[in-house]
Amino acid sequence: MSAARLPREAIRDMLADLKMPGSLEAIDQILSAVDSGQLTASEAIQRLLGAQIKLRNNRRLMAAMHSSRLPAIKTLEDFDFAFQPSIKREQIESLHELGFVERKENVVLLGPPGVGKSHLAISLAVAAAKRGRRVYYGTLIDLISSLEEAQATGQLLRRLTVLTHPALLVVDEIGYLPITHGGAVLFFQLISRRYEHASTVLTSNKGFEEWGAVFGDEVMAAALIDRVLHHCHLVNIKGNSYRMREHAELSRELNRESRARRTRAEITGTA
Ligand SMILES: Nc1ncnc2c1ncn2[C@@H]1O[C@H](COP(=O)(O)OP(=O)(O)OP(=O)(O)O)[C@@H](O)[C@H]1O
Ligand SMILES: [Mg+2]
Repeated sequence: MSAARLPREAIRDMLADLKMPGSLEAIDQILSAVDSGQLTASEAIQRLLGAQIKLRNNRRLMAAMHSSRLPAIKTLEDFDFAFQPSIKREQIESLHELGFVERKENVVLLGPPGVGKSHLAISLAVAAAKRGRRVYYGTLIDLISSLEEAQATGQLLRRLTVLTHPALLVVDEIGYLPITHGGAVLFFQLISRRYEHASTVLTSNKGFEEWGAVFGDEVMAAALIDRVLHHCHLVNIKGNSYRMREHAELSRELNRESRARRTRAEITGTA
């Protein structure tokens, strides 16, 4: 073994001893870059530690994928802001720094189908899971079903406690499917428990003025909105569906038609 190889071997042994496989895998490449003058010492240390943090975060995410019920991995990096100009990039990037989770604030993403509400809600949950925070994902219907099942078997309190525990809960798809009054009451209890206790990220295709109809009870919806909005970041997305991006004109036409339908319903009082 030549004298020049010794420190390198020692570093490898230390990284193995410290159980830092991410850094261990990256070390040879980093040291070669240092030898050829491409990296300074501080850059090399930054990369070495960064490689381990990346591996740890990905492992955390993989573990969280099992328990959090996240339907997919969506990230901020995959999000094309150019496609959705109504979104304030700085607001979304700042949310992904997760100060709102520490402060137990909420996020509400509103907008028509396909504009990226679930994508951004999931990417916030992914970012939190990578930081080691406990996250949980459900559509409104799924969450209510699980509360109803728990209620039927006398486990409601336990289930409410379990769902209050995650630092970040995503409640996706508020507004697509009708819910029963009993279901709305259960959801209200969940939001009341989480209020000022942990963050909730909610997505809806319906504006708040329509939540009374969604929950079948104007008074309860108002109390729900009051709790959600008290410490809340609102992201109102106005734009075309990403799913329909290859059919831009058709998508615009459908959006115009749905806005017109809503206005007609308001005028005739059937909204
Ligand atoms: N700006 C974007 N950049 C990249 N991918 C996007 C963007 N917007 C949406 N997508 C992708 O398009 C698909 C639809 O987006 P998403 O599910 O987030 O829409 P949504 O607003 O939740 O719609 P819905 O109300 O129908 O649930 C997803 O696969 C998502 O990852
Ligand atoms: Mg969605």
